[in-house]
Amino acid sequence: MKNTFPLVAKTMAGLEQVLAEELAQLGAENINVLHRAVSFEGDKELMYRANYCLRTALRILKPVSSFVARDEQMLYDKIFSVKWHEIFDISDTFAVDAVVSGKYFTHSQYAALKVKDAVADEFRSRLGARPSVDVENPNFRINIHIENDKVTLSYDSSGESLHKRGYRKAVDKAPVNEVLAAGLVKLTGWKYDCNFIDCMCGSGTIPIEAAMQALAIPAGYFRKNFGFQYWSDFDKKLWEKVQCEENDKIRDFDYCIYASDHSSKAVSIARSNIQNAHLSHDIILSKCDMQDVMPPESPGIMIINPPYGERLEEDDIVSLYRMIGDTLKKNFAGYQAWIISSDNRLLKLVGLKPSKKIEVYNGPLECRFVKFEVFKGTYKDMKSSQ
Ligand SMILES: C[S@@+](CC[C@H](N)C(=O)[O-])C[C@H]1O[C@@H](n2cnc3c(N)ncnc32)[C@H](O)[C@@H]1O
Repeated sequence: MKNTFPLVAKTMAGLEQVLAEELAQLGAENINVLHRAVSFEGDKELMYRANYCLRTALRILKPVSSFVARDEQMLYDKIFSVKWHEIFDISDTFAVDAVVSGKYFTHSQYAALKVKDAVADEFRSRLGARPSVDVENPNFRINIHIENDKVTLSYDSSGESLHKRGYRKAVDKAPVNEVLAAGLVKLTGWKYDCNFIDCMCGSGTIPIEAAMQALAIPAGYFRKNFGFQYWSDFDKKLWEKVQCEENDKIRDFDYCIYASDHSSKAVSIARSNIQNAHLSHDIILSKCDMQDVMPPESPGIMIINPPYGERLEEDDIVSLYRMIGDTLKKNFAGYQAWIISSDNRLLKLVGLKPSKKIEVYNGPLECRFVKFEVFKGTYKDMKSSQ
C-alpha cells in the first residue's frame, strides 16, 4: 500500500472485534481495537473499499488534525484557522457531528455549533458568503471528537451512516440496525455451509444481511452515495475499480435462507425490503407462527430477535419465551439457535442451557446474544455421544 494515512471505523459496542477481523481481511494495517471504534491505516483505495465492503462499520473517519482546546473560543479559533474554502466547495452543504467527554466540554451539540460557526465564518471571511448547513443529508461531514482537552478533527468519508444500506425503505416494530444484524450473523461463526433461518424476521433485516454475506454482495452495493465522492481529491476511476473488483466476488450460495413472522404486516414489509435487495430468489419468506415452522433438516443456524416485552402483557411474553424453548426442542434438533434479547429473565424461560453469551447493544439497550445448541434427548446424552 502506498500513501497510507490513519483512519477510524466507528461501530456499535460489542462489534469491535468483528470489525477488526473484517478490516484485517481487507488488508488494513496497524489495526487497533478501541471502544465502539477500530483504528487502522490504509490508502485511498482501502478507504473506498472499507466504505463499500465493511458490514459492521457505521462510518469511516479520516482524522486530519488534533489540537488542544479547553474552551469554546479555543475550539472556534483552531477550527477557523483551517482553510475550509479550499477543502470543500461553497455550493456544497455541510454538517458537524461532535462527541465530547471530560471536564472541558459537556454539550456535544454546543461544540458542534461552535465548529459550524467557525467553518461558516472562515468561508465568509475569504469568499464573502458561506455554504449552507444540511444536518440530514450534507455533502461534507465534519467530525469532532473531544476527550478532555484533546480535540480530533476528522472528515467523514462515509457521509450518511453505513447502516443505511439502501434496501430498507420501510420497517415494522423494533427493527434491528443493519450493522447489528450483520454483526450478529458474523458472531454466529456461520460459514455459509448450512441453511439459515429467522422465524421472527420482522422487517427482514437479519435474513437480508445473512443473504448478502452468503452471496458476498458488498454491504454498500445498494447505496447511491458516500461522503468521499464529494471530496476535492475524489478519484472516480479508483472508485469504479474498487466496485468492479468487489462486485466480481458475488457468488452463488448452495443452501437456503428462510424468513418468517406471524404478522402479515411484518411479512409484507420484509417482502418489499427483500425485493429492494434483489434477494427474492434467495430468501424463502412466509407468514407463520414460530411454533408451526417446520425447518429444513439440520444442521442449520437460527437467529431470532423476539419482542422483549414492549407492548406485550407479562403473561404473553412469558408464554412466548416458553414457546420458543418448546419449539426449539421439538422442531429444531441439530440447529444452533441464537437469540438476542435485553431481558435475561426472559432468556431463562427458554429452558435450554446456553453454550455462549455475548454482550451486544441494540441502540442504547444492553442485550445478550445467546447460543443454544439444540440436540435430541438430554444434554447428558449429547455430551456422552461426542
Ligand atoms: C423485535 S421484532 C423483530 C425485528 C427484526 N429483527 C427486524 O430487524 O425487523 C420481533 C418480531 O417477532 C414477531 N413475533 C412475535 N411472536 C411471534 C411468533 N409467535 N411467531 C412468529 N413471529 C413472532 C413479531 O411479529 C415481530 O415482527
